[in-house]
Amino acid sequence: MIKGYNILHPIPLNPRLLIMPGFTERQILEHYEVLYKGYVNKVNEIRNLLLSADRKDANATYSYFRGLKKGETYAIDGVILHELYFENLGGTGGMPRGELMRQIEWDFGSYDAWLEDFKATGMAARGWAILVYDIRCDKLVNYLLDAHNYGVVHGAEVVLVLDVYEHAYFIDYGTRKADYIRAFMNNVDWNVAEIRFKRIKNLL
Ligand SMILES: [Fe+2]
Repeated sequence: MIKGYNILHPIPLNPRLLIMPGFTERQILEHYEVLYKGYVNKVNEIRNLLLSADRKDANATYSYFRGLKKGETYAIDGVILHELYFENLGGTGGMPRGELMRQIEWDFGSYDAWLEDFKATGMAARGWAILVYDIRCDKLVNYLLDAHNYGVVHGAEVVLVLDVYEHAYFIDYGTRKADYIRAFMNNVDWNVAEIRFKRIKNLL
């Protein structure tokens, strides 16, 4: 038996997400209430099972403990990425300003060049497209994740998160993924991304 854990609670849903142009209420509620809250519940379930899981038979081919540990990072990364995604939605789109815009122009040449790369990353990804500030190379980069915990680059701090799992758009857009990404960009809250970026830079 190991020490206890803190129970994870879901963040509240920003009501502005229910009236976003290009998104139905049902699409957002299925995503938030079912998918996101499901990951929160799984984190708690896994952590509870880990308290008393048998560690003596841990094995890298298969073991109960391995199953829990693999599920643990998948579920917690699922929670974190969804919270970042919901948090950076509900805005009015447009373009970032200030420090973040200057950094995008410095690293990509222009906002349009960044946007083209970010959209392509989203189209090519099976899970997530994320704009991160990679501290090791002092650079903004668009990274592709095929699952919550597959494609994560450690030490890279998140600025903007786009969910491209089919569950994020299939109710509203079917297979029209590019139209969903366009709708996402029209509802980005750049204030949130700018605050994240400033926070990262202050840590350097
Ligand atoms: Fe999702």
